[in-house]
Amino acid sequence: MELSGQEPVMDGLGETALWALYHRSLAARDPACGLADPKALELVQALDHPFRRRFGTDNRGWVRGMAVRARCYDRQVRVFLARHPRGTVVCLGEGLETQFWRVDNGTVQWLGVELAEPAALRRRFLPDTDRRRTVTCSLVDERWMREVDASDGVLILAQGVLMYLPWDRVRALVEACAARFPGAGLVFDTPPAWFTADTVQSRFRYPARYRPPPMPWGMTPARLRELRTCPGVAAASQVPVPRGTGLWWGRLVPAVDRVPVLRSYGPLFVTRLLFQPEPAPAGPPPPKHS
Ligand SMILES: C[S@@+](CC[C@H](N)C(=O)[O-])C[C@H]1O[C@@H](n2cnc3c(N)ncnc32)[C@H](O)[C@@H]1O
Repeated sequence: MELSGQEPVMDGLGETALWALYHRSLAARDPACGLADPKALELVQALDHPFRRRFGTDNRGWVRGMAVRARCYDRQVRVFLARHPRGTVVCLGEGLETQFWRVDNGTVQWLGVELAEPAALRRRFLPDTDRRRTVTCSLVDERWMREVDASDGVLILAQGVLMYLPWDRVRALVEACAARFPGAGLVFDTPPAWFTADTVQSRFRYPARYRPPPMPWGMTPARLRELRTCPGVAAASQVPVPRGTGLWWGRLVPAVDRVPVLRSYGPLFVTRLLFQPEPAPAGPPPPKHS
């Protein structure tokens, strides 16, 4: 990615952040999507990127899907903040997400983790504050963990990013987070395996012929079971997604979501992991009775 004048020119993974922002901003314009996000609209305007030419205009299904995904994450954050008002939310691969402005309760600590160029773009348009900052670091590099204040609870989010990493890296990330943040949660989404296979074989294109980077794996019930066996993982479950709008996101997806054997085939697989709490410190030995 390079920053040229006002217009960010990105390729590969960095451009996916612009794609996601653009779709959320379109959702924010449509009251039926139920996603109030004035900051996304403001940011799209400020970026002055050729969004329509690059990503197309015939995107209604994607727009509705992005709204459902964002609302699903917002719900997770609100539940967390109800219990940990001063907790820390970590957003791995935060891109240009404006979630902070949708869910801020005035006391949350917010930490974004991004690769160098998207992080620079983010800081330029969404400068750090005392409660919200972006660290430049790959999410597979454990350096970001040192930046997390874990004193009031931690929720880690990985929205729209883990499908771009190899599965063994994802497993290693889960294990590292579980070891470092006992009692915390990790929420991430992936498309299902039938979808990601098309991206690897370059068969898949969005409108305007935009092609996403390959996604080497997709979520399946077998992978969910595998995550349950990772050291430090107490629970792993598929999160029900909120009802969206239109035939697909308003009716079919919620119907599929209600049937356990079909749920994993839906277009959006959101996973929530809970890490085992720290073991209570060993107390004094019991008194000896003679
Ligand atoms: C599809 S975008 C999603 C952005 C944001 N989470 C959202 O939902 O709008 C994927 C983001 O992950 C970032 N990313 C990809 N690999 C990463 C890595 N190894 N470490 C940190 N960020 C990464 C990309 O730079 C990009 O901003």
